[in-house]
Amino acid sequence: MGKNIVEKIMEAHLVSGDLKEGSLVSLRVDQVYTQDATGTMAWLEFEAIGLDRVRVPLAVSYVDHNMLQSNFMNADDHLFLRTAAARFGAYFSRPGNGICHQVHLERFAAPGLIALGTDSHTPTGGGMGMIAIGVGGLEAASVMAGMPFEFTMPKIVRINLFGKLRRPYVTAMDVILTLLKMLSVKGGVGKIFEYGGTGVKDLSVTERATITNMGAELGATTSIFPSDENTLRFLKAQGRRHQWIPLEADEDAEYSEIIELDLSEIEPMIAQPHSPDNVVPVRNIKGTKVHQVCIGSCTNSSYKMMKTVASILKGRTVHEDVTLFINPGSKQVYEMLAHNGDIETMIRAGARILESACGPCIGMGGAPGSGQVSVRSYNRNFKGRSGTKDALVYLASPVVCALTAIKGEIVDPFEAEIPLEEVNEPEVFSVNDNMLITPKKDRNIKIIKGPNIKEVPVKEPLEETIQAEVLLKLGDNITTDDILPAGSQVLPYRSNIPEISKFTFKNIDESFYSRAMEAKTKGGGIIVGGENYGQGSSREHAAIAPMYLGIKAVIAKSFARIHRANLINFGILPLLFSNPEDYESIEKGDILKIETQAIKNDQRYTVVNLTKNKSFDVYSNLNAKEKELILIGGLLPYVRNKVLS
Ligand code: F3S
Repeated sequence: MGKNIVEKIMEAHLVSGDLKEGSLVSLRVDQVYTQDATGTMAWLEFEAIGLDRVRVPLAVSYVDHNMLQSNFMNADDHLFLRTAAARFGAYFSRPGNGICHQVHLERFAAPGLIALGTDSHTPTGGGMGMIAIGVGGLEAASVMAGMPFEFTMPKIVRINLFGKLRRPYVTAMDVILTLLKMLSVKGGVGKIFEYGGTGVKDLSVTERATITNMGAELGATTSIFPSDENTLRFLKAQGRRHQWIPLEADEDAEYSEIIELDLSEIEPMIAQPHSPDNVVPVRNIKGTKVHQVCIGSCTNSSYKMMKTVASILKGRTVHEDVTLFINPGSKQVYEMLAHNGDIETMIRAGARILESACGPCIGMGGAPGSGQVSVRSYNRNFKGRSGTKDALVYLASPVVCALTAIKGEIVDPFEAEIPLEEVNEPEVFSVNDNMLITPKKDRNIKIIKGPNIKEVPVKEPLEETIQAEVLLKLGDNITTDDILPAGSQVLPYRSNIPEISKFTFKNIDESFYSRAMEAKTKGGGIIVGGENYGQGSSREHAAIAPMYLGIKAVIAKSFARIHRANLINFGILPLLFSNPEDYESIEKGDILKIETQAIKNDQRYTVVNLTKNKSFDVYSNLNAKEKELILIGGLLPYVRNKVLS
């Protein structure tokens, strides 16, 4: 039987398991990369494992998210990341070199490889014909320590492209927005999208990368394109011809589903507030008044797209009611635009040129005014992400964005008064890796940690008896934001668990931190939750901080999948009520006693409520690996044990 591209790559990297949908597989990983917002913790975790070098062929530490240096903290983080990369044998991409996914695509991504990144848009690399998956910091640290990457095999869905885009009016951004309209933000959950068909050759590597980048918005594990002549052309233009291999699915390859998409029928699309799948044709809302336009990000920063934007802005002026921000995604693109006079064109038109970084995409500067409309070539438009809670953020192609910036209202490119021209991909990119610091051989490099960077706390092995106080009793659908809020007050402490822990459950119960610290000295705390505990962002800190505060177990009616995994990774026992009605019998302040030996047997535990003199049953549903993790205190001691023994 023939194989699809995903199977071909995974088979070449298989350590154990079966590539059948739903099976647990372990894979060898070629590349791991981190960005600063998640990377500081990943590198602290790697340090805590205790190895002196990374054990993957390539590791890169990027700085792109937190670039605003309004005090010492970000600058200290950048120095920590630089010295940690030097110490542990990773490349360091200096602040200013660009957004991790754009730079990685340009300089490191290669067909046939497997890469992990500590950012949800890591699948951008799929445009190059590689399997690129976003993971948490601790998972990245454990793979950098030489552990295989373990995950449950998703469904492989083929997206068959045919026809040609109606260029220059329709772009790759419109392809992925069309798919979001068709499939929704949940349409890719548990799936890998593999693109194929005759339409693939109509798309360049950077256009494919736009599509795989926003596969993350479909909820997909990742997305991938074949490696063909266009891939070869891009690698050649980057001076990396030698890294090309051809890669395509066999004729008789099998898929769990096939979706057909005619590129010639796609029209300019736009996602309306507040979800990337709230998509309509641009023509439906043309004329909507706009106050801000942002062009760039890891989704739409290719040289071709930026040059297209410059060609629209040339000789014109940004509308007087509009602020136009442009953040080219990499130094390479920025430098080429500067060299060719395009930056001058943009500045002359009135654009505000930002550095090569995430910037407004992550609410680091460039927040719209209250209630204002912002049209962005970015990938996310959730409420408040821009930094302004009541802003109305739309997502569209750079072509729609540039036309809109000039007119002051949303423009359908087919009706634009400005003549559009098709820009070609460059034959040669300006390659200058002077902002990439190569790994050092010297192992005596000192890792420099500013006062805001603290060691990662590591949990002790599971106690035989947990006797602890119920510190909080919560309702249904508690989010990781409820557990540990984000935002500019909290984020600067991401490398300082003792400090960030002070924000735990702060929006629910101001006194939680002090009560937890007190309980910690008397045996720790327990959280009681309702249904879907820990939904929302995959934020690891929502498990690390409670662990640091001495939370031993969370008893809930059900858990959100990723948060449950994070609890286990940090040694907190996730327990489910055998009879959900027992939830009613517990009150805040009760002292519960749990004998944990049950973990080895049938995993049904009897919980004795010492305060109420009652007992009830719970269970933990742990698989063999999860049991090991909980027993030893979490993934960090588990990996340390494996790699150092
Ligand atoms: Fe950065 Fe926004 Fe991409 S935060 S990594 S530009 S999604």
